Amino acid sequence: MALIYAYLEILFIPITVIFLYFLTIRTRKKSSVPTNWPVLGMLPTLLRNSHRLHEYATELLTETNGTFEFKGPWFCNMDMLFTSDPANIHHVFSKNFSNYPKGPEFRKIFEILGDGIFNADFGLWEFHRKTTLSLMTQPNFYSFLEKSIWEKIEKGLIPVLERFLETGVEFDLQDVFQRFTFDSICKIVIDYDPQSLSIDLPYIPCEKAFNGAVEALFHRHILPEGVWKLQKWLQIGKEKTLMKAWKSFDEFIYPRVSINDGVLEKDHEEYGFNLLKSFKRKYEEINNSSSRGDSRDFLRDTSLSLMLAGRDTTSTCLAWLFWLLAENPSAEMKIRREIEEELHEKEDKIKWRNFSVEESKKLKYLHGALCESLRLFPPVAMEHKAPIRLDVLPTGNHVTENKVVLLAFYSMGRMKTIWGEDCRDFKPERWISERGGIKHEPSYKFPAFNAGPRTCLGKEMAFIQMKMVAATLIYHYNIKVVKGHKVSPSDSVIIQMKHGLRVKLSKRNVY
Ligand code: HEM
Repeated sequence: MALIYAYLEILFIPITVIFLYFLTIRTRKKSSVPTNWPVLGMLPTLLRNSHRLHEYATELLTETNGTFEFKGPWFCNMDMLFTSDPANIHHVFSKNFSNYPKGPEFRKIFEILGDGIFNADFGLWEFHRKTTLSLMTQPNFYSFLEKSIWEKIEKGLIPVLERFLETGVEFDLQDVFQRFTFDSICKIVIDYDPQSLSIDLPYIPCEKAFNGAVEALFHRHILPEGVWKLQKWLQIGKEKTLMKAWKSFDEFIYPRVSINDGVLEKDHEEYGFNLLKSFKRKYEEINNSSSRGDSRDFLRDTSLSLMLAGRDTTSTCLAWLFWLLAENPSAEMKIRREIEEELHEKEDKIKWRNFSVEESKKLKYLHGALCESLRLFPPVAMEHKAPIRLDVLPTGNHVTENKVVLLAFYSMGRMKTIWGEDCRDFKPERWISERGGIKHEPSYKFPAFNAGPRTCLGKEMAFIQMKMVAATLIYHYNIKVVKGHKVSPSDSVIIQMKHGLRVKLSKRNVY
């Protein structure tokens, strides 16, 4: 029987190609609801739209009132429930949290992250969460963060941008942000700055490997398991890229979490705390062992997960922000005015302006602009959950044990029922309250940082970093997106800009 299933899964690719052919020559129907074919279920439509899955899911969910039952091919365990309904989000992430662990299917797809926080459930997850939180609540963590972000701006970002300015060349701003966030998160997690953001823009395999890995992980969501496993075994396509990324991660991280390196011995100079040392100590307490091999694997998984959390999300949000500002120049003007008025910029002109954490907090309009970027392009555009026991969602849909529920965050930002008629417009004002403060929206309506007990641990840190970087760029430069540059979200678990963000700089006359 298992052999028959395996053959059926292998035959999916040729059969699907034939179906796709018939689908394209068929008169195009207006509805987005896919046809449920015998044997293949709705997979042909999913594959046909895989290059624009988030937009397709949005059309489908708009047409079906926010919840849709997807039928996968027979015997493939690919039936899924797509939802963008805030009541369902609240239920899955908060009210019935204990019934929705990450589970074995999630772990299978994200195997590259091993025992890191994203794959962890129950006791292991609590252990990760507490230990990571204890770093972020160290008394001087935020002053260390402020200092290290400013150092990276001053010694990495500005020299690189000034070089682009001098030479007058176009460049990829998203790549610059990715290098920035990679260096920053490495410094925090493994106390080492790889300096990927320096004038010669060095190629660091681990830094680039994240882009290929997040695309490959997305493909694992839309292909039957047998197909991606076969590709992995044959070492072809996205699976080949994923395995190469895996190797690059290991080569970068393992030497830095080994005892000989010394990183695990001393506390971090500036904030007197060593994240990996704490993880190692607690891991050994729990496992009642001092086995070096075990803890090395665990520290590798812990570091990689935090590096992914810190690099890709923040850089993606910044890249979309600058594209949205280029499309909405009046919003950019308002941010400049806010900097001048709130920070009394005109009275205090120095060559390079350092924006402190406290000052960044005063930039409410900029905060609203970042929230709009996150609402329209949430870096984690879809979440994946499966119940351990049968459940009934607030929308009345039944979800059986282990059935995948896909929570479509990207689509939520584009729902008139959630954000009103102007949901597709970029309006930072949406986030300003009548009294001029920042307006709070519940996380089940705005789930960019997730919701419930697994809410993102780096939210505050991300806002500080993004505000300091964005304020520096907006204050010092005019950034023009290159004419004709193609813009679309990547087909990936983190929706980066598929073709990067090609821009050209000119200096603002501020001093
Ligand atoms: C704009 C920036 C960011 C966004 C949009 C974001 C979003 C998210 C989302 C959606 C999750 C849930 C993922 C899942 O459970 O599968 C998450 C979890 C997490 N994030 Fe962030 N994140 C951002 C920045 C950061 C930063 C800078 C860090 C710092 C290391 C961080 C650390 C974490 C951690 C540790 C978790 C796991 C929480 C848990 O499972 O309990 N994030 N984040």
